[in-house]
Amino acid sequence: MWRHKLADLEQTALAAIQAAATPDALEKVRVEILGRKGSLAAVSREMGKIPPEERAAVGKRLNAVKDAVESALEAKQTQFARAALNARLDAEWVDLTLPSPGAPAGSLHPVTQIQSEIEDLFESMGFVVLDGPEVETEYYNFDALNIPPDHPARDMQDTFWMKDGNLLRTHTSPVQVRGMERLGPPLRMIAPGRVFRNESVDASHEHTFYQLEGMMVDREVSVAHLLYFMKTLLQGIFHREVAVRLRPGFFPFVEPGFELDIQCLICGGKGCPVCKQSGWVELLPCGLVHPNVLRFGGIDPDQWNGFAFGLGLTRLVMMRYGIDDIRLLQGGDLRFLKQF
Ligand code: DAH
Repeated sequence: MWRHKLADLEQTALAAIQAAATPDALEKVRVEILGRKGSLAAVSREMGKIPPEERAAVGKRLNAVKDAVESALEAKQTQFARAALNARLDAEWVDLTLPSPGAPAGSLHPVTQIQSEIEDLFESMGFVVLDGPEVETEYYNFDALNIPPDHPARDMQDTFWMKDGNLLRTHTSPVQVRGMERLGPPLRMIAPGRVFRNESVDASHEHTFYQLEGMMVDREVSVAHLLYFMKTLLQGIFHREVAVRLRPGFFPFVEPGFELDIQCLICGGKGCPVCKQSGWVELLPCGLVHPNVLRFGGIDPDQWNGFAFGLGLTRLVMMRYGIDDIRLLQGGDLRFLKQF
């Protein structure tokens, strides 16, 4: 009878251990069998009722059952531990031969984007893209652009002067002269870049901003050529036909000089707060290159002439995206930059 009972108990215990699906379930089974109130303890407590001559045999058998249960538990525990380890290894497995996913790619700054669009456009029309130094000489920034030492235009541009007499260029126009020297006539060039002015910074003034200079020198260049290229430029930027008008403007390096306005893109010319009810928005200054400037560039103004323009890239970006504070553009705030 004891034999049967123990055999039953062993079988049930081993089956329960086998059936346990989780470490928690297994622990519960362990307590039910081996715990103080468990089934084996219950049998031990009844040892007193067993006839003395059988006690040794039953005790031996009881120990054997206990050993069997313990080793089954241990086996099952090891199995769980191994499964857990395998799951972790699977989850953490890394193929070191794969290329790394790398840091998330940034995005191009809106000024850079508009600059490359305009570069593509002008390159497709035979213009070359030139670079010029940001630390410039007084000669290229002023003198060679027909701005003599006592000319009021030198004051108009608040200049960062270096101790050695050089300066941070106040506009991209000096690249006109460097371009003429380098390329000779006929030429078509644009020169995008950073310019600097000694301004107090507010929502519409920065000490550092971007311009894009353009120049074409050829035989008998006229205002009609200038207008054609400017209209093509605007179509490229705004992706639609934009009406333009020229007003007289004064810059020592062009004659005649103009302010080119575009019809307000917000109201279509009817008048709105953006265009201050005028229907027109000032976009860029331009003109026909002054003969003195051609001479400074080593080009004979009796043989050649040209047009030039100075586009405010920073301003254009602000117009295109409706940005109302120029400081955002160079503030380095990723929350702003990520929108482009
Ligand atoms: N350099 C001028 C400025 O920064 C802008 C300018 C005006 C450029 C007329 C030109 C031009 O090429 O023809 O204020």
